[in-house]
Amino acid sequence: MTLSEYLRIAYFPLSILFALAFAALPCAAIVLWIHGRIGAMIVWILVPLLIVLYAIFASIVMVLFMHLRKFYKKVPDGVYKKGSAENRFNELRNSYYYTLISKFLGPFEGLARFNKIHNLFGAKLGKGTYIGGYLVDNERIEMGDNCFLGALAAIITHIYEGDNYVLKKVKIGNNVTIGVGATIFPGVEIGDNTIIGANTVIPANKKIPPNSIWIGAKPQRIK
Ligand SMILES: CC(C)(COP(=O)(O)OP(=O)(O)OC[C@H]1O[C@@H](n2cnc3c(N)ncnc32)[C@H](O)[C@@H]1OP(=O)(O)O)[C@@H](O)C(=O)NCCC(=O)NCCS
Repeated sequence: MTLSEYLRIAYFPLSILFALAFAALPCAAIVLWIHGRIGAMIVWILVPLLIVLYAIFASIVMVLFMHLRKFYKKVPDGVYKKGSAENRFNELRNSYYYTLISKFLGPFEGLARFNKIHNLFGAKLGKGTYIGGYLVDNERIEMGDNCFLGALAAIITHIYEGDNYVLKKVKIGNNVTIGVGATIFPGVEIGDNTIIGANTVIPANKKIPPNSIWIGAKPQRIK
């Protein structure tokens, strides 16, 4: 069995713990309190305690995963076959982060807004840059200062295309706004002071010049 299969199995106990900490046990405590079986004091202590314990547990897992990545060499940019060792390794390095943030740190999602957290997982985000959307493969993403990634927008540095798995760095300058729902594909470079309109798709390897505004699924420069 491969390590990624073990991790997929680990997902189940984590999900159960998550459900227990945030739903089942607090609900059970509240129901017991309503029925007068336990005192309100216990509910006030138990519910926050479970949440704090889960937060501590999730932080430990996160730190462990962060350090575990050091044991896997970063897969260089390139085009690999789907299912190849490079494909599996790269998914493994990154899946910790996405699984943890999106599935298990939901109530602490605010954490995923902090540049420091992204940078700890390999991104290079400048000062004042705000991530409202998704970064896929943090360690291949460089973004300057005062940028804004809108909600549901994604910067994706790995893509599956047919049988291929493509990995390429994305580089974004300073003061760039990426609109709500926009998608930035691998190999894109965006110059300073640029706006990428809402829902715009910037295809792989496209170079966007500075001081410009782009819109559309087949992007056009409008300013
Ligand atoms: C791209 C954008 C900056 C253009 O703003 P603008 O310069 O004021 O341009 P206008 O609103 O005058 O629109 C100019 C034309 O482009 C079209 N257009 C504007 N944004 C568009 C978009 N995202 N996709 C497709 N067409 C768009 C308009 O319909 C208009 O077309 P028309 O000339 O045929 O009427 C803005 O529409 C946008 O998408 N901003 C993104 C903001 C965002 O999501 N921020 C991050 C989250 S808060």
